Amino acid sequence: MVRKITRLAICFAAGLFAITLGVGAFAADDKKADKVLDVEEIMKAGHSKNGYINKIKTATKGEKWEDAAKSADALKVNGEMLGKNKVEKGEADSWKKLSDKYAKSTAAVVTAVEKKDAAAVTKALGSISCKECHDAHK
Ligand code: HEC
Repeated sequence: MVRKITRLAICFAAGLFAITLGVGAFAADDKKADKVLDVEEIMKAGHSKNGYINKIKTATKGEKWEDAAKSADALKVNGEMLGKNKVEKGEADSWKKLSDKYAKSTAAVVTAVEKKDAAAVTKALGSISCKECHDAHK
């Protein structure tokens, strides 16, 4: 009996904890809520004129590493999210390969920015091959 009550109490506490976490995450940043951005949203956020890539380039040029880090982190979050989408065009295997590659490239941008290494930033951004993926999946 006592054990049963203890177990119940633990379940209850764990449940409350999970709810608190959930609410916390939701309130912290609407971008980081469990919503997965679709491919179009990720493309626009990362690659448009005022997108993360251009912001990273400008900040890197001016050695504004904190600004670069903010955009690079956001690009990486989206990089991890890209592959959670399905695409209508192209083979699933190819999409997995190319979206993984995008995730790796965007992660490499973050590493380069952390090292304040402008040449490495340029190289990591250069490893994002828009055309390769668009030819196959856009
Ligand atoms: C791993 C694959 C992949 C990579 C890498 C990629 N794209 Fe895309 N992109 C897509 C797909 C798929 C679409 C089509 C999305 C749709 O219409 O639903 C797209 C669409 C777009 C669009 C149109 C978005 C809209 O408004 O409909 C733009 C702009 C774009 N990409 C820019 C770029 C640029 C610039 C790069 C390189 C810096 C890039 N993309 C790299 C997969 C990729």
